[in-house]
Amino acid sequence: MAIHPQSTPHPFHPSPAAPVPLALWPVAQTSAQYQRAGRYHPDSARHPGKMLPALAARIVAEYSAPGELVCDPMCGIGTTIVEAGLLGRQAVGVELEAAWVDLARANLDRLVEPDRRRVAEVHQGDARRLPGILGDLAGRVDLIVTSPPYACDAGVIDRKAWVAGGRLCGTETLNYSADRANLGHARGTAYAEAMAGVYAACYAALRPGGLLVTVTKNMRRAGRCVDLAALTVSLARRADFAYLGHVVALHAAVRDSQLVARPSFWQLTQTRKARARGEPAHLSVHEDVLVFQAREVGR
Ligand SMILES: C[S@@+](CC[C@H](N)C(=O)[O-])C[C@H]1O[C@@H](n2cnc3c(N)ncnc32)[C@H](O)[C@@H]1O
Repeated sequence: MAIHPQSTPHPFHPSPAAPVPLALWPVAQTSAQYQRAGRYHPDSARHPGKMLPALAARIVAEYSAPGELVCDPMCGIGTTIVEAGLLGRQAVGVELEAAWVDLARANLDRLVEPDRRRVAEVHQGDARRLPGILGDLAGRVDLIVTSPPYACDAGVIDRKAWVAGGRLCGTETLNYSADRANLGHARGTAYAEAMAGVYAACYAALRPGGLLVTVTKNMRRAGRCVDLAALTVSLARRADFAYLGHVVALHAAVRDSQLVARPSFWQLTQTRKARARGEPAHLSVHEDVLVFQAREVGR
């Protein structure tokens, strides 16, 4: 499925009940480690919620053209902007945490040669202030690709401590950092309100007709399934985006007639813990890629 703003006219704000196209992308034919090995800085492994490089590359290739401007307002270690740079796009990332900003810059330096970059940069800042951070580029972004924090207590895994019977993650590393301003700490209504602010800022940063693509994974909290995809659709609509499409990104390798799951160490541990508590948890092997478009006119 390819939806490109110039090639696919659509009625604006179709009824919320109108079905959107659904597609399936296998993006984990090789493992996450293999996709990064020898390319990304080894310290990238410390970030607990990275996007698969193959998924970032597929989104950029499907929804933007060479030379266009791609932005990730919550860019972590910079997967989306690196893959965008490698595909000949201009790329700008924003990230709240200095440590991840440094890694995103290191990854850009390692992977995208200066002569292949027109713009490729990372700023430290709060995604809710995206237009101000982008300065002259605000209102000119063609594609925003982002994977928001999940409110799921992810942290930097300390295997040694864990094997020795200690905690899986140091508490100061949970939710991406100890800084309570990090939206990884937000829960419930506070999370929804904060993300509504991020999507409103994305809308203001995009050019008319520009696209927003989010990547989320539904999760469990206190034994209940949290439908993050549905929440994201309603928050993006609240920010005036039209909902154009849904892609299921398959995090399993397709092998003959079988699917081979590729869970992270983190996912496996969480699922085992949930089962030990008697919760009927299963390993989730997909992420939801949601495609939205800003108005062409009347903004
Ligand atoms: C799911 S991760 C994104 C990972 C990224 N796609 C990658 O491949 O590395 C979410 C990121 O949002 C960052 N973040 C949280 N709150 C933020 C905010 N208010 N502004 C900007 N970034 C924020 C977190 O620090 C974290 O790195």
